[in-house]
Amino acid sequence: MTCAINPLLSFPSSFIGNPKSDFVNISTTFGVMTFLVTIKDNALSNRYEEAGTMSELQVGLAERSYPIIIEKGYLSEIGKDLLERNIAKRFAVISDDRVAGLYGTVLMDSLKQAGLKAELITFPHGEANKTLETIAQLASKLAQLGFDRNDAVIGFGGGVTGDIAGFLASSYMRGIEFVQVPTTLLAQVDSSVGGKTGVDIPEGKNLVGAFYQPKAVYIDISVLQTLPQQELLGGLAEVIKYGVIRDQDFFVFLKENREKILALDPTLITRTIHTCCRIKADVVSEDEREGGVRKILNYGHTIGHAVEGASDYSLIHGLAVAIGMVAAAKLATLNGLLAQSDMERIVSLLQDYQMPIEVPAELDRERIKRYLLTDKKAVGGKVYYILPDSIGSTQITAEITEEQVDLVLG
Ligand SMILES: NC(=O)c1ccc[n+]([C@@H]2O[C@H](COP(=O)([O-])OP(=O)(O)OC[C@H]3O[C@@H](n4cnc5c(N)ncnc54)[C@H](O)[C@@H]3O)[C@@H](O)[C@H]2O)c1
Ligand SMILES: [Zn+2]
Repeated sequence: MTCAINPLLSFPSSFIGNPKSDFVNISTTFGVMTFLVTIKDNALSNRYEEAGTMSELQVGLAERSYPIIIEKGYLSEIGKDLLERNIAKRFAVISDDRVAGLYGTVLMDSLKQAGLKAELITFPHGEANKTLETIAQLASKLAQLGFDRNDAVIGFGGGVTGDIAGFLASSYMRGIEFVQVPTTLLAQVDSSVGGKTGVDIPEGKNLVGAFYQPKAVYIDISVLQTLPQQELLGGLAEVIKYGVIRDQDFFVFLKENREKILALDPTLITRTIHTCCRIKADVVSEDEREGGVRKILNYGHTIGHAVEGASDYSLIHGLAVAIGMVAAAKLATLNGLLAQSDMERIVSLLQDYQMPIEVPAELDRERIKRYLLTDKKAVGGKVYYILPDSIGSTQITAEITEEQVDLVLG
């Protein structure tokens, strides 16, 4: 027995007794302990819903539960809803310069028309500004403007803004209320839901942060009209991820409706965002702090993050994840977990959406492998992979050899 067994055993133990874990299987292969957990949720795929162009769902976290409201044109309604929910009397709207320039007036007018006091506070757009320095500057600004514990922060923008605004809210005066108004597809289907907030430091991405849930998430699909195509595709990669990890019907829906989804058809985009938020909400309700099942949301991210890093972030996150999802699907097939035909379906869907499926030839493979070992998800020097075992079902394993990684990196 060569592996460090403790991290392996502690990793999936939270699944034992979980009704959604179909089986837990311990076996020894070539003297190495393999511990696989299969997570299947048939009920979920049956619950795949039609949504029109407005819908509401709930993230169930006991007293910290909160609504996600999806509605076309909702930016101008947010003030009224905030007033009804009595979240705070005064709001700091945190936004990057781009989003503030495009939509700042609409949101600020909505708050003012509802009789709410609000200040728009901006920072320069881009991941390079997701730093502790930005948090310090924004906190100083809040203090200078006299914001106190009865006030609230609204994160208005993409994932960078949401992560910054959430972390600011979690720490300003030891925590003030927080609301998310995501404006990129990635933020609408992923980062605004689930309470992960934080910033980057030179040693790594998202290394300083907090779990801090918002009071509400407001999603207006009309803002996607101004999103650059690359950003839209990046978000769609995360959308496809949800189909692969948890919902076969949704995967088929994405295959069949590609053109309308890419054209941002309001009904289909609402349905798409609703389904992703539903899946993320269910996973987060089950495992808020990523002790177990929440790890499946990292499908495609182990190799994806490494590829993103090795490209010096010239590849945007979602497209690096697309490459990572293909690599993980191939690893699953190499290990006899995923049928070749299912692996090909995953590749084909990503290709349908014009996403990259191969690690760019110019990227240094050794550098990618070094990134893999420093992955936050590595435990005791072992890198964990989230591998599909069919479309809509996922396993977690650490038993991937370097030769297999070399093979899928190409
Ligand atoms: N907290 C989480 O759970 C979680 C999950 C996934 C990703 N993230 C984080 O999210 C970040 C990436 O988010 P992102 O992809 O949204 O990037 P982003 O916030 O940088 O937005 C991308 C660009 O689009 C612009 N933009 C935003 N909305 C727009 C709109 N409607 N029209 C035109 N332009 C618009 C922004 O100004 C920015 O320049 C990363 O920092 C990542 O770590 C967090
Ligand atoms: Zn991601």
